[in-house]
Amino acid sequence: MREFPVAAIRSVLLGVPDLAHAEAFYTGTWGLTVAARQGVTVYLRATGQDYHVLALQPHPTAEILSVSFRVSAQQHLYSIAASVAAAGGTIIAPSAPNSEPGGGMVLKVTSPEGYILHFHHGDAQHPSASIPANLPYRLSHVNLNCKDIEATSSFFQKILGFELTDRSKAMAFLSCNQDHHAVVLADSGLDGLNHVAFMMPDLESVMRGSGRMIDHGHSIGWGVGRHGPGDNVFAYFVDPFGFVIEYTAEVMQIADGYQPHGPDYWVWPPGRSDHWGIAPPKPAYVKDAQLAIRFASAK
Ligand SMILES: [Fe+2]
Repeated sequence: MREFPVAAIRSVLLGVPDLAHAEAFYTGTWGLTVAARQGVTVYLRATGQDYHVLALQPHPTAEILSVSFRVSAQQHLYSIAASVAAAGGTIIAPSAPNSEPGGGMVLKVTSPEGYILHFHHGDAQHPSASIPANLPYRLSHVNLNCKDIEATSSFFQKILGFELTDRSKAMAFLSCNQDHHAVVLADSGLDGLNHVAFMMPDLESVMRGSGRMIDHGHSIGWGVGRHGPGDNVFAYFVDPFGFVIEYTAEVMQIADGYQPHGPDYWVWPPGRSDHWGIAPPKPAYVKDAQLAIRFASAK
């Protein structure tokens, strides 16, 4: 498969109003473990190689503070910085050694919409090990709300080098490796975070992880079901702070030459919203939560 400048989604940084509560939820229930603490921030890892997949920081309200990607070569940090600046984004911090746990080099930018995006190279990774069942092993994707989905989709493709893999009426699916999507853009009327998806080893793990959430008093918000574009299984939850989080698995693996389908193809029969036909309609509280989280600087 051809090499993309952005090689993978790595982690997200969330601002939470009660850090101790958030840490307890994401370790005791969601299935992550503490990789490091530095300053006011706690860094949580999944069972895969990424040094961390979620960082939590005290914040007055629940907000998304950044989304981090890994690039395939250090030179891409410089070319992305130049391209983002030329496209109307801003450079928060040019490529420099990263002082946070995981190290390596990091470039911090704001997209024209106000998304705060970090790009990493040479960051530490945990040794590869067997992947235990029922626990997240890495991030799968972020779904970002868009005020102008065509402009944002163009930014991700032309400036960051992502490839459009499918386009439904409401969403654009963007890939940077074998996964069908690492970023999904939602036509939402405002810019922000729709949800964060964590990759589970398999369908059984999505089910058992969902059972663990229910055991802890967190009912499934939407699902379990199997998506159209990407064909992945899903279970959505709203976390204690209002972030929408997803367990997913079995994401379609694609090769060069994958042919995107458009909105006319991605239409469900009446009454359906997943391939199996078992996911009930998405409740209003989940829809509302999917529109409630903004980037800290995007106000
Ligand atoms: Fe998703």
